[in-house]
Amino acid sequence: MVSGTDNRIEALEQQLKLFKESSRQSNLVRKRYQDALSILKQKDLELKKSKQLIEKDLKMLKAMQQQLIEKEKFAALGSLVAGVAHEVNTPIGVAMTSISACNEEVRQLKKLYEEEELSESDMDTFFETVHESMYLAKSGLDQAARLISSFKMISVDQNFDDIRQFDVCEYLRDIIRTFKNQLKKTKIQVDLDCPQQLIVKTYPGSLSQILNNLLSNVINHAYKPQEPGVVHIKIEQQGNLLNLLVEDYGKGMDAALKDTIFQPFITTARDRGGSGLGLNIVYNLVAQRFGGEIEVQSKPGEGSRFNISLVVEALE
Ligand SMILES: Nc1ncnc2c1ncn2[C@@H]1O[C@H](COP(=O)(O)OP(=O)(O)OP(=O)(O)O)[C@@H](O)[C@H]1O
Ligand SMILES: [Mg+2]
Repeated sequence: MVSGTDNRIEALEQQLKLFKESSRQSNLVRKRYQDALSILKQKDLELKKSKQLIEKDLKMLKAMQQQLIEKEKFAALGSLVAGVAHEVNTPIGVAMTSISACNEEVRQLKKLYEEEELSESDMDTFFETVHESMYLAKSGLDQAARLISSFKMISVDQNFDDIRQFDVCEYLRDIIRTFKNQLKKTKIQVDLDCPQQLIVKTYPGSLSQILNNLLSNVINHAYKPQEPGVVHIKIEQQGNLLNLLVEDYGKGMDAALKDTIFQPFITTARDRGGSGLGLNIVYNLVAQRFGGEIEVQSKPGEGSRFNISLVVEALE
């Protein structure tokens, strides 16, 4: 009897011991869990702090990037303005010199007249010189006016152009027709590769400006006078892109020229009245008006190929 009770007490004691042990174990686990939790919380705090720091850095970087863009824009604008001033200076200088020469002629004529020494041959010389000076002054001022109107076109925002839906092939045919007189003086043939009908919603004025400048370039630069030539124009739509290709098989360009042609005032035809703004206007229109891209392939003697893709709107 006694030993039965002893046994039970012993078993109870054993159980108590086990219970104590497991309670100690679970306290240990709880403590470990709490330790791990507090480490996690600490880590979370640190992460949040470094995220805030990174965000601050990113903001600063973005602000710096914006500042750099603004600075670059200003630098580009500065050199553009300096370029225009430089370009316009020459023809205005010619006009000024010619007008001063005229002034001097008038002064001398007046003197001869007052001294009653004016002869018929003096009058002839006077008319001849004044006529020539006036002609030079007018060409100088015409060139300056041309430069200024091209310069105005550089700024895409200045050229208001209504977006509308139209048949782009019909439209290109009309533009090419406006070149009839210029083309008549050359042996250049225009070959238009366009579907029967291609309705797009886009900016007609800007598209016409792009084709005008590219076609004028083929007429003015690609072929020698009276050299037979071809300009191949192709247009096609691919999703929301309108791809325009203008290609000639004329004299082409060397790498140095090719790499700079989209910059303002780059021209090999200054003596023939070229301002070097045509392709800069094309570039700005493609990039800013259409959010598109332009790329040129050209090699001396192998012609030039302008690949343009323009983003167009969905049809209504
Ligand atoms: N199709 C082409 N073939 C050969 N050279 C070309 C062609 N297109 C452009 N170029 C070269 O690129 C230069 C720059 O062209 P851009 O249209 O900008 O100016 P420009 O035609 O000289 O003058 P502007 O167009 O302002 O009257 C030209 O002077 C010419 O040397
Ligand atoms: Mg040009």
